Amino acid sequence: MKIFPVSQSIFCVHADVDPTFFEGIWPIRESGVSLNCFVIRGEKTALIDLTSDWTDASRQVVSALTSIGLSLKDIDFLILNHLEPDHTGFLRKFHRENPKCEIISTVKGISLVKSFYSISKGIRAVKDGDTLDLGKGHILSFFEIPNVHWPETMVTWDAASGVLFSCDAFGSFGKLGDRVFDDEFTETEHAAFEKESLRYYADILSSFSPFVEKALEKFKSLDIKCVAPSHGVVWRKNLQVIIDRYAKYASYARAGEKEITVVWSSMYGNTKAGLDAVIRGIEQEGVPYSIHRVPDEDVSYVLADAYKSAGLLIAMPTYEYAMFPPMAYVIDLFRRKHIFNKTVLRIGSFGWVGGAKKEYETAITPLKWNSLESYEWAGFPAETDLLALEEKGRELARIVLGS
Ligand code: FEO
Repeated sequence: MKIFPVSQSIFCVHADVDPTFFEGIWPIRESGVSLNCFVIRGEKTALIDLTSDWTDASRQVVSALTSIGLSLKDIDFLILNHLEPDHTGFLRKFHRENPKCEIISTVKGISLVKSFYSISKGIRAVKDGDTLDLGKGHILSFFEIPNVHWPETMVTWDAASGVLFSCDAFGSFGKLGDRVFDDEFTETEHAAFEKESLRYYADILSSFSPFVEKALEKFKSLDIKCVAPSHGVVWRKNLQVIIDRYAKYASYARAGEKEITVVWSSMYGNTKAGLDAVIRGIEQEGVPYSIHRVPDEDVSYVLADAYKSAGLLIAMPTYEYAMFPPMAYVIDLFRRKHIFNKTVLRIGSFGWVGGAKKEYETAITPLKWNSLESYEWAGFPAETDLLALEEKGRELARIVLGS
């Protein structure tokens, strides 16, 4: 297991893991995720963030520490920026191995140390602006960034090196392998990470975009030379890329890109026939779109594109006098993940009397959407329906272009 020097006295160790789901819901079996921890060696040694207890994550980190002559017993301070168990699942075993190590987190973080791990001794609560002197010039500062991702979250700042240890902020899905720094990856690899950054943001942080913007504002006073998140690439060369990317992601909560995300379901092809007509209209206006069929495709990917887009096209049939159930789940997640401020068209076929429209319109009430009038039809769309649907597609596209 390699260890990655950020400087002569700061090291990144990471575990690549690929459980089926992140947070038990977001699929990462293909992409995996990196759990990054950072060692700072002054006169005292600090470890910033830990790992989960997924598969062999902790073994990977312990093995990396060993390669620079460190064991868990050598860690004087364990700094927990954030208590979600992807960064702390190993804490119970760590504490058993090294009970003298002082655990540092925010007041709310310490409360979770107690409730999640039953540890109540050797803990120190810090608040915004507090510092910890490790010696040899490393005076760490702690800045609270509540709700990026949980209320207790903070970042750790080492002014001497200019490294910002940002935990979930600036993170991404995707395994790192034997490289961690941005200048070590190809353009193709960066393109893949960019997609996984957006998906990570939409799945994990989209509900908290106003808090992300507050955190970004706070970071402006720091002369950052390296962004060191606890998931994904460590940015030491083109760090403005990830800072700008997060600023853009946060802004999508107010206004998305001039593109449309199509989310559709169809039981027997009747809704699909109407959808094809709307898409013809969108294409005539030249607006880019992505397309996702539900439930074939996981909602994690739907969220990423939907969060990014200014426009949504939702096609679903009526099912038992209500919304098609997999699409009802998508709409519910849109609400939970604050997929707000979109221009939206919903269409769909019904058999007898419909019902999806009524349930849908109630469900989207909190979403602050600019909704075009829904279009529904009985059975297979007639020629007049297809012409009307095509015009609906043009109308949606024109509004998105003008947004
Ligand atoms: Fe990476 Fe919110 O935990």
